[in-house]
Amino acid sequence: MNVICTEQSQVLAARLAKELGVPLVQVTYSRFPDGEHYLCTGPLDGETVIVGGVGDNNALVQLMLLADACRDSRCRLVLPYMAYARQDKQFKPGEPLSARAVARALSTGVSDVITVNIHDPGVLDHFSVPARNISLSDDIGACIATLALDNPLILAPDEGAFAFARDVAASGGWECDHLDKTRLSGVEVRMAPKKVSVAGRPVVIVDDIISTGGTIATAAGMLYQQGAKDVYAACVHGVFTGGAYARLMATGIRGVFCSDTIERACSTVSAAHRIATALRQR
Ligand code: R5P
Repeated sequence: MNVICTEQSQVLAARLAKELGVPLVQVTYSRFPDGEHYLCTGPLDGETVIVGGVGDNNALVQLMLLADACRDSRCRLVLPYMAYARQDKQFKPGEPLSARAVARALSTGVSDVITVNIHDPGVLDHFSVPARNISLSDDIGACIATLALDNPLILAPDEGAFAFARDVAASGGWECDHLDKTRLSGVEVRMAPKKVSVAGRPVVIVDDIISTGGTIATAAGMLYQQGAKDVYAACVHGVFTGGAYARLMATGIRGVFCSDTIERACSTVSAAHRIATALRQR
């Protein structure tokens, strides 16, 4: 077995190769003058784990090229982050089901797929090869434990993220709740935990994705108004588009943590160990 990766997933791939004790194949990546991607892999053995988070369209194309370049090996795909997974329904006529289009494209040339905290597990059904999802809830929990917070409240920003927040909370034996949104007027919205008071307590808001940071920035501001002691944010996939990280820190959030499914300076949690375990199971 060997591991190979796209440019955007080099750190995770190197950690995964180390976990598995297998070589990391070198790849030359470049561009043609018109912007088209080019790549060339080093020698491969009989089984290749391709690691590539789809953070943007470039990563998607590189991943498709890699699968084709590795066609003489048995390829397994690790998709740590899957952009387009949030368009998992057709909301109006004429729209694509983008998650399905991407899943179908990425099924080509691989024998199975492993995703990490995919936004909607229903998306797994769109791959035409066996696909399964793993969760970093325990790893995010272990990261929160290193903060040594006194009686923290783990908070999901909405009901959709509650199951993940509950798993994170369970790993540390912490209390958990989710935010409820109340519309006060046409322009005013209040967000507060459904059951638990945050007064005087440290709070960690956890979500699968931080994209613009808007959800968490709004929530953090409201939690401070309600007397929260310190507010932290943790997610699996740190997309941080449009200055999101700076926006969050400017809100007074004490720390923002994510995993290396998307490689960021604040990727303090690694998915490598869980992925290695999942790969060994099949
Ligand atoms: C949405 O369903 C996701 O779970 C996240 O809550 C969302 O992507 C966060 O987006 P943003 O950071 O742009 O508020």
